[in-house]
Amino acid sequence: MMKCLFPVAGYGTRFLPATKAQPKEMLPILTKPLIQYGVEEALEAGMKNIAFVTGRGKRAIEDHFDITYELEDQISGTSKEGQLDSIRGLIDQCTFSYTRQNHMRGLGDAILTGETLIGNQTFGVILADDLCVGKPDGVMAQMVRVYEKYRCSVVAVEEVPHDEVDRYGIVSGAEMDARHVRVERMVEKPAPQDAPSDLAVIGRYILTPDIFDILRDTAPGRNGEVQLTDALQTQAKNGKVVAYRFTGQRFDCGSVEGFVAATNYFFNR
Ligand code: UTP
Repeated sequence: MMKCLFPVAGYGTRFLPATKAQPKEMLPILTKPLIQYGVEEALEAGMKNIAFVTGRGKRAIEDHFDITYELEDQISGTSKEGQLDSIRGLIDQCTFSYTRQNHMRGLGDAILTGETLIGNQTFGVILADDLCVGKPDGVMAQMVRVYEKYRCSVVAVEEVPHDEVDRYGIVSGAEMDARHVRVERMVEKPAPQDAPSDLAVIGRYILTPDIFDILRDTAPGRNGEVQLTDALQTQAKNGKVVAYRFTGQRFDCGSVEGFVAATNYFFNR
């Protein structure tokens, strides 16, 4: 059974001051924090061992995935009790482990920091600020099926407007069928004129464990950060990355605009 890694060490500067003293992953869409949507998606994909790469000021995440005795005692037997059902279900079914990234050296470094929790096995990665509503099932569950077929790293992708490619890792390669691309090139946040396509990687990955050794050998790239994209490019050179056009919808809740769109979507459905 695959484990799922959640890198949650980032500062969330785009949501200041809300994220000054609380993790951005705890911001709620309606009554549920972003991170809980992510863990629910992992569980739906059969990933019960949840690993977090946290950082300073992220302790609320650990408390969220634990029992709160006084509170639960207080609302026990009242109409409010049911509101804790979803989180209690996760706590009962999953295990949670944590390690800290001491310096914010980028997503690649955060994933390498998680090696101690993952070990030598293929694993899922969810960036909780990309909130996905997969159809017919969760995006990570769809990706597990892709992995089972191709047995290499898998990245979830979607077409984005051409003038937004500089916000994403962009991939290009050989179209295998309508949903799968054998990745040949990956570029992190290219200028629109340099982008090899409009196919953007979103915050869902399945990574084979050789990624750890590659990350160790990857020099810091853009912004002095170790880029996961650069490590994936090394795998892609050997034909070992498949980009998967998922079915469903994704909200970029790392931006205020996407956060509002997600809130409206969940409120109206
Ligand atoms: P982002 O690029 O969204 O950065 O990171 P951020 O710091 O979270 O948010 P802004 O841009 O300042 O508003 C993408 C993902 O990688 C994690 C983040 O927690 C987020 O899930 N990350 C990033 C780390 O865990 N460590 C890092 O050093 C960098």
